[in-house]
Amino acid sequence: MRICESVAEMRKARVLMRQDRRVGLVPTMGALHEGHLSLVRAARAQCDSVVVSIFVNPLQFGPSEDLAKYPRPFERDRELLEREKVDILFTPSVDDMYPKNAVTYVTLEGMSEKLCGRSRPGHFRGVTTVVAKLFHIIEPELAFFGQKDAAQCAIIRRMVRDLNFPVEIVVGPIVREPDGLAMSSRNAYLSPQERKSALVLYRALGEVQKRFDQGERNTERLVETGKQVLSQEPGARVDYLETVDPDTLDPTSEIRSETLVAVAAFVGGTRLLDNILLSPK
Ligand code: PAF
Repeated sequence: MRICESVAEMRKARVLMRQDRRVGLVPTMGALHEGHLSLVRAARAQCDSVVVSIFVNPLQFGPSEDLAKYPRPFERDRELLEREKVDILFTPSVDDMYPKNAVTYVTLEGMSEKLCGRSRPGHFRGVTTVVAKLFHIIEPELAFFGQKDAAQCAIIRRMVRDLNFPVEIVVGPIVREPDGLAMSSRNAYLSPQERKSALVLYRALGEVQKRFDQGERNTERLVETGKQVLSQEPGARVDYLETVDPDTLDPTSEIRSETLVAVAAFVGGTRLLDNILLSPK
């Protein structure tokens, strides 16, 4: 596996890959878990060359968020990617990615303020700006993202459509721990007690799914069901539980087509996400 530590090095390596039919990119912020590795394996299966980026993107963190303490176990990540036979690991520095006085951003008007965008102002602007830059630098044919960040997937799909990026977005399923907790790099922050409390997100979505399977199609009642479960866990504080269109992220009132049920909740100081897709026959 070749490690490219600068944009210039990555561009040179990309030129050498020109003959390859398909280059796949898995953008990450490191602290890799099985969710990331499942995307790397999907990329390996579908592409000739696989590039993984590890870049803890300061632009997508708010001023009081966890940028400084975000886990950066670089050696462990490198070994895991080596084992998955990744071709290139791209690990640029912040200064290289964001030259001094950079003033250009990618914002999806309206969409950037939905779901996580509402409680994390500027977050999606940071995500779309860095992903657009990664697409320009690496020029992948395919890029792989995890369904756990469903709003991020919708926003990136829309950016790709609106700005004509020649990139196919592939979304991999949520990878869960055996007890149901969605895998996330931030799970490492949880104390043993918080780890137990965190399961409430999965339980709440499970109840929503159950009521949907029993025939409930009114989203207000489905949301109420989920919120009731969340309120029973004193260790968790809900940020949002919403039913939205998975492409536009607009709220829905009746489930007539595929609907995303997305939840974000704080467990201790850690903000966790999970979601399910409800599909009426
Ligand atoms: O999902 C993530 O880890 C990040 O938001 C991403 C897509 C790598 C952009 O920094």
